[in-house]
Amino acid sequence: MNTSEFIAASSNKSIEKTSFTWQTPSNIALVKYWGKSNPQIPKNASISFTLNNCHTITTIEFEQKEKTEEVEFDLFFEGKQKDAFKPKIAAFFTRIKEYCPYIFEYKMTINSENSFPHSSGIASSASGLSAIAMCLMSLESELNTSLSKEYINKKASFLARLGSGSASRSIEGPLVVWGNHPEIEGSSDLFGVQFPYKVHSVFENYQDAILLVDKGEKQVSSTVGHNLMHNHPYAENRFLQANDNLSKISEILKNGDVKSFINLVESEALTLHAMMLTSNPYFILMKPNTLEIINSIWEYRNENNSNICFTLDAGANVHVLYPEAEKDAVNNFIENKLSKYCQKNQYICDTVGFGAKQL
Ligand code: PMV
Repeated sequence: MNTSEFIAASSNKSIEKTSFTWQTPSNIALVKYWGKSNPQIPKNASISFTLNNCHTITTIEFEQKEKTEEVEFDLFFEGKQKDAFKPKIAAFFTRIKEYCPYIFEYKMTINSENSFPHSSGIASSASGLSAIAMCLMSLESELNTSLSKEYINKKASFLARLGSGSASRSIEGPLVVWGNHPEIEGSSDLFGVQFPYKVHSVFENYQDAILLVDKGEKQVSSTVGHNLMHNHPYAENRFLQANDNLSKISEILKNGDVKSFINLVESEALTLHAMMLTSNPYFILMKPNTLEIINSIWEYRNENNSNICFTLDAGANVHVLYPEAEKDAVNNFIENKLSKYCQKNQYICDTVGFGAKQL
């Protein structure tokens, strides 16, 4: 695989001190990525809606220092020094150092905050790592002013992927594909690309209400979960199915067939969790209230001929997806019938978004 285009050219420019702030979104996969090989190469292609309100805001201050063998950084989360998050970020810097050798020449102070609770099943690693990647690319483009916006986004996605696979889908919007797929032009295992075809208007302003069933730390991290797909009895079929689902959803997104969208998206969510149930060791991330919500959604859909559906990430929370035209009715249903299944009745109303923003 040719990654040489992502190695930063050396620069003669000297910048003593600078800082950049980026707001980058979370995303919700419609066809899921679960299973990978080294270095963060997905076993199947995936596609997600980029979100709008669930985001991370990160500022990195760069201060020139003597070049050493070590990457030096301090990490603050919501204003407080957060050494617990440091190993993950240090591992990320180790993975990207050959592509961003300039990180050895700066002391970095990273300040980050989320618009949602971290480790809640909302992809905080996706928005967190894409924000760091965008800040690094801002420095890189000051050191080398000839970089195009297209290259900056592509390399940011490439870098973010090395921190967390799904983070590669958090640079752009509204629909991003990550993973090489014969029917998606330009798709790659190395970075995410915007879904390259015209999307039917029904999917343009899709709504995602995230029901916070369990805001606690996940019992099984996604790293462990991905690894359990090695030697998993159903893995190979799952990877084929996911790629096939990506072909199908690509057509659905173009033709606006919402009923087929519902069927595919719910099946993907339940299949993801079926992979967890059938791993060895097996595990369950859904909670009783996850199932209560799913059953209530099915009941509501049948009774009201609604286009509401759900999807799940690697956690207990439920993403409720629905067309904008049904917003008032579904929001009432969530408030009156579903919020009681959420911790402290909390849920987040979000919509499809357009990607990273520099602040
Ligand atoms: O990016 P990771 O390694 O945290 O994996 C995330 C996997 C899922 O969120 C469950 C699915 C996906 O495609 O986002």
